[in-house]
Amino acid sequence: MSSTSSALSDCIRHIDTQPFDDQKPGTSGLRKKVTVFQQKHYLANFVQSIFDALPENERISLVIGGDGRFFNQEAIQIIIKIALANGYQKLVIGQHGYLSTPAVSNLIRTLNTSGGIILSASHNPGGPTEDFGIKYNNHAGSPAPEALTEKIFTNSKSISQYHLAEIDDIDLTLCSSHTIGNCEIIVTDSVDEYANCMQRCFDFSQLSNGFATEQLSLNFDAMHAITGPYAQCLFVEQLGANKSSLHNATPQDDFAGTHPDPNLSHAKNLVAMQNTAEAAKLGAASDGDGDRNMILGEGVFVTPSDSLAVITEYAEVIPQFHAGLRGVARSMPTSTAVDRVAKHLGINCYETPTGWKFFGNLLDEDRISLCGEESFGTGGNHVREKDGIWAVLCWLTILQHTGLSVKEILAKHWQQFGRSLYCRHDFEAIATDKANQLMDHLQALCQSNAWLDIDSSITAVQSFSYEDPVDHSVSSNQGIQVHLQGGSRIIFRLSGTGTSGATLRMYLEKVSTNSQDYNPELDIIAATSALAELGYRVANITKFTGMKEASVIT
Ligand code: G1P
Ligand code: ZN
Repeated sequence: MSSTSSALSDCIRHIDTQPFDDQKPGTSGLRKKVTVFQQKHYLANFVQSIFDALPENERISLVIGGDGRFFNQEAIQIIIKIALANGYQKLVIGQHGYLSTPAVSNLIRTLNTSGGIILSASHNPGGPTEDFGIKYNNHAGSPAPEALTEKIFTNSKSISQYHLAEIDDIDLTLCSSHTIGNCEIIVTDSVDEYANCMQRCFDFSQLSNGFATEQLSLNFDAMHAITGPYAQCLFVEQLGANKSSLHNATPQDDFAGTHPDPNLSHAKNLVAMQNTAEAAKLGAASDGDGDRNMILGEGVFVTPSDSLAVITEYAEVIPQFHAGLRGVARSMPTSTAVDRVAKHLGINCYETPTGWKFFGNLLDEDRISLCGEESFGTGGNHVREKDGIWAVLCWLTILQHTGLSVKEILAKHWQQFGRSLYCRHDFEAIATDKANQLMDHLQALCQSNAWLDIDSSITAVQSFSYEDPVDHSVSSNQGIQVHLQGGSRIIFRLSGTGTSGATLRMYLEKVSTNSQDYNPELDIIAATSALAELGYRVANITKFTGMKEASVIT
């Protein structure tokens, strides 16, 4: 550990600036092209707007880290300088600027800092012409709630000055500690504290035994992104998984030109591997910043909605949940598979709008222990972010406890609870005005009975509005729900994370208790095609967007 000290007040500058009008945080912070963030003052304005939105007693200590994408290091140096000039007393930064999103959340909680800044555009591609992002997490480690993001946006529209300490860049290559004025700057190992957290959640000696006896085996694809070092430490060094279990495990600032999104389209090599004799008992992948996960078995894919339901079903075998679950939650478009398990267990299941921030209050108040989203997000009460590596450890625990294969676990689950056949159609790069017209059309349907004439299977069309049961804040217009007979649903909403044009998401859920639908090889797109066709009709997709088919189906 090295230590340096110098007078801070001499280096503080007050820089005049002009507001940018496009700094509205979306579903998960502010995401833009790198070139937008590279504009003079752009990042600084936003960071100052964050600090100005915080009460003084929440501007004490800050964790800073990112997924290592292009511009990560430069951004961290700017944030350090602005934080110093804004009176922060302690900054904790991941070595090399690396921290996965759940690791930031964990550090905030473990070190009890007043907040954290995460630099990531999650699963979006990285590189000089690709995406960058920034978001603030509060003292609970949770993504900033809407009231705060609104405040930040308001500040960004009127900002005229930011404060910056003109100091040399901090060396992030080594773990070290520096004192600048009254501020302690610590460059910390990116993995250690997170690994400790995982040790508290799971039984590592039992899992190691599973790998040693070959009861467990793993293929993990880190997608050239942040989870490589975490997977190396936890799966290989601590649990004894074979080194060859890890794929693409060295973080790169452009993710090797790939799209670090763990799904069937972007993790094709892993999927292919799991469909051969080389398959491991568990196949898994995580995204750019390590919060998403995809779960595969030997020749089988587990939808994120089913994954949440299965983890709920077996929660008591996971040490973190030995005392039972307080409750569970899912985002509104996530399938209702977990609702059926919650009902069976006699616990509450909350339905929240899309975005992890809506789980924060429920977790803080201990109303839920486990939650998830259809978008490859699963998490527990150990942090306030979804957590990819953690989800893999949950599945390893379940596999070891049951001695069953992933396929057998799913078969058993569907036999008991029925199956939600589920997929999502994304219509990308739609002109924003067209997308808004389509949503207006759907809103109008909710206000009238016109949907009665569209199809007799429709039982209701509603605009989803959520009242947080803890702070009673209301979030309206969170998507359109088309309810169908038998509990099936079609959901429409616009993405809040895109960086160009609009993306319409159409989520299809067909609830089935017909055992013929329990075949894991079932073609889901074909099995939900009637729902898709109805969805096109209800939303007039082709008329509004000109698109006859989705850009991607996951
Ligand atoms: C997407 C997902 C959402 C997730 C978010 C951040 O947001 O749909 O579930 O919380 O990314 O990872 P969207 O683009 O749909 O607004
Ligand atoms: Zn992510």
